[in-house]
Amino acid sequence: MRGRDTRGAERVYVSALPGLEPALESEARELGLAPRAVEGGVELEGAPGLHQEANLRLRTASRVLLRLGTFRASHEEALENGLAALPLSRVWAGGAPPRMSVTLHRTGVPGAETVMSAAARAWGLRTVERAGPLDEETSPGLTMLVRVEGESFTVSVDTSGEPLYRRGYRQEVSRAPMRETLAAGILRLAGYTGAEPLVDPMCGSGTFLVEGAWMSMRRAPGLGRTFAFESFPSFDARAWAERRAKAEAEALDAPRAPLLGFDLNAGALGTARRNARRAGVTLTLERHDLKTLATPATAPGFVVANPPYGKRVGEAEDLPGLYRALGATLRRSFRGWRVALIVPEDAKLVGQLGLDGAKSLPVRNGGLRCRLLLASP
Ligand SMILES: C[S@@+](CC[C@H](N)C(=O)[O-])C[C@H]1O[C@@H](n2cnc3c(N)ncnc32)[C@H](O)[C@@H]1O
Repeated sequence: MRGRDTRGAERVYVSALPGLEPALESEARELGLAPRAVEGGVELEGAPGLHQEANLRLRTASRVLLRLGTFRASHEEALENGLAALPLSRVWAGGAPPRMSVTLHRTGVPGAETVMSAAARAWGLRTVERAGPLDEETSPGLTMLVRVEGESFTVSVDTSGEPLYRRGYRQEVSRAPMRETLAAGILRLAGYTGAEPLVDPMCGSGTFLVEGAWMSMRRAPGLGRTFAFESFPSFDARAWAERRAKAEAEALDAPRAPLLGFDLNAGALGTARRNARRAGVTLTLERHDLKTLATPATAPGFVVANPPYGKRVGEAEDLPGLYRALGATLRRSFRGWRVALIVPEDAKLVGQLGLDGAKSLPVRNGGLRCRLLLASP
């Protein structure tokens, strides 16, 4: 059996939202984690505790899975033996049985039910329950993932628990908020380094600005939450405390450049202010209509925005008119700035922006197909 020597190197799979894989790869490379790009994310290999580091530091990651082992099995008995040989006791202390999610990557392979009943026999359990889709929420307890490709079985365990976009600071949202991981990924794909001014003219609950502030402060995104790996029997609490303390010590007290947010809705600005306070960051927030927004009194930097899509929040406002106004404001007040907009896949609506020559990348926001437009008006 090929797999992980539990005292040796760890193999970890990190997933990202569709479209954010390149951002995750570059982020992991910058952290010195030597990523290998794979479908839906990256694979990492390194010293024990790598899964802790990935959960703590990667801003654009959705979830971190620890590979328990990979083996080949051509029949059910071999499958049961392969599962029984995994170092399960390192991640499961008994009690509530693990849940399992099985993904089949070829036809003619044993079905999910076969894998789950083999796992129950291998681990002396009455049943192994099916886990829900891992992109979303996770039920408490251990979640195992099995990837079946022909006769090859890769078994992993979820180390994140709650999805990683839950940083802990956003306990309330405005209308149509975006995930923290998506905001961080967009900033990264746009080339924001944290050393430039950042403006969000339609900031809502302030997700772009808080994520930008943490990037600017080099604050690790996982410092304010807990993770599934903390309940593993092999959890090394001392190593974790040291890792956290190191990350805390590296974080700057304040962002390196100004962060400015505007919105028409006073309620949204209140939410942004409270989210920022919980995140420990200072933002400049002001009620303002983007139509009359003037050039900020800072050096040129980045403008990011997630304008309303109409669909999700059901605004009755004139969307084409709003997009035209946004484009006009960018050309008038943000000449020489770099612009990143996440907009729906609607060529007519996007055309209203008049951002000719913008680079357009596919991304998803809350399950909707969107485009990330990168431009320099
Ligand atoms: C999709 S939401 C942004 C959500 C935000 N990214 C977040 O994570 O919470 C769009 C925002 O645009 C704001 N908005 C709509 N029309 C505006 C205008 N003319 N000027 C400024 N803000 C406007 C809305 O109030 C709303 O907060």
